[in-house]
Amino acid sequence: MSARKNLLLLPGDGIGPEVMREVKRVIDWLDRRRGISFEIEEDLVGGASIEARGTPLSARTLDLARAADAILFGAVGGPAWDHLGFANRPEIAILTLRRELGLFANLRPAIVYDPLVSSSTLKPDIVRGLDMMIVRESTGGIYFGEPRGVETLPDGQKRGFNTEVYTTYEIERVGRVAFDLARKRKSRVASVEKSNVMESGLLWRQVITALRDAEYPDVALTHVLADNCAMQMVRNPLQYDVIVTTNLFGDLLSDLASMLTGSLGMLPSATLGEVREDGKRHALYEPIHGSAPDIAGRGVANPLAQILSFALLLRYSFAMEGVAAEIEAAVVRALRNGLRTADIMAPGAARVGTGVMGEAVLRELEKSLP
Ligand code: IPM
Ligand code: MG
Repeated sequence: MSARKNLLLLPGDGIGPEVMREVKRVIDWLDRRRGISFEIEEDLVGGASIEARGTPLSARTLDLARAADAILFGAVGGPAWDHLGFANRPEIAILTLRRELGLFANLRPAIVYDPLVSSSTLKPDIVRGLDMMIVRESTGGIYFGEPRGVETLPDGQKRGFNTEVYTTYEIERVGRVAFDLARKRKSRVASVEKSNVMESGLLWRQVITALRDAEYPDVALTHVLADNCAMQMVRNPLQYDVIVTTNLFGDLLSDLASMLTGSLGMLPSATLGEVREDGKRHALYEPIHGSAPDIAGRGVANPLAQILSFALLLRYSFAMEGVAAEIEAAVVRALRNGLRTADIMAPGAARVGTGVMGEAVLRELEKSLP
């Protein structure tokens, strides 16, 4: 791996730029205090890019994304762009990045941090210690399948259609990501589909089973129908370690899982491409909370998910496990000290804004220096 680490920052819309500012302070701290530096580019994406350039993802931004070792993404979207047609919405930026860079494995951890166990709407005993990883396929399935569209029938009615489609290859490569992760965790994978009603789901089940038997006999595999999985996640989420599933089911189940933690503002994600011949892979990291237009610009947003996304970036794109773990530990200590942004406020805690929360993480990092 070359010494230069090229990062592309895409803060986007809503609270994106505010929470990204706190990551920039962490990047700056690493440079000053740890001698770890990055080549940084920053660009517009989503609504911000629509305003400036008339498109949610310009060709220039896509070029920067292709050239970067890793992309740190904020959030896109907001009411100002809700009226736009399907093909021009801010959200198209993220779908295009996934497709163009081949970002097929979307990793969405759902972790209950101990100081936040009472933030969940579920009883503490159900969620305490939760540490689940959803691996969502993110460049295939019904999101991208052809044919798709809306057609007019001879009688004047309309017919809208999309296609759920998966090949052996697509299922195997996302399966490998899940099994490899499981080996570093509790060695348990739950594969989720609807093989009782969908042929593509049956193929999914068969391919995942064959892959486990051939390459991962040491990993325990269960198959769960997607509806049952949603129920089980609320009933007893601790039963899950790694979940691997399709694009659409992963979209739904990861929102569900995030709410088990009670703190959407805490959850990062990583979306990874295939490892290329030079050993590198495209990768994009983003908080899962979205642009939160209702609180944008008020300095109250929780920056921790963006900071934790940066920690994932260090771990997966640069193999900097040590620094990633230090940042994660600093976040937990900042919480333990009783500081809370509004979204995770608890009785007796001190309510702080985006900047103070970011500063608290920096202070904890500073304390961890030898
Ligand atoms: C997500 C989002 C996206 C998706 C939207 C914004 C296109 O919901 O990342 O989960 O559906 O994949
Ligand atoms: Mg979603």
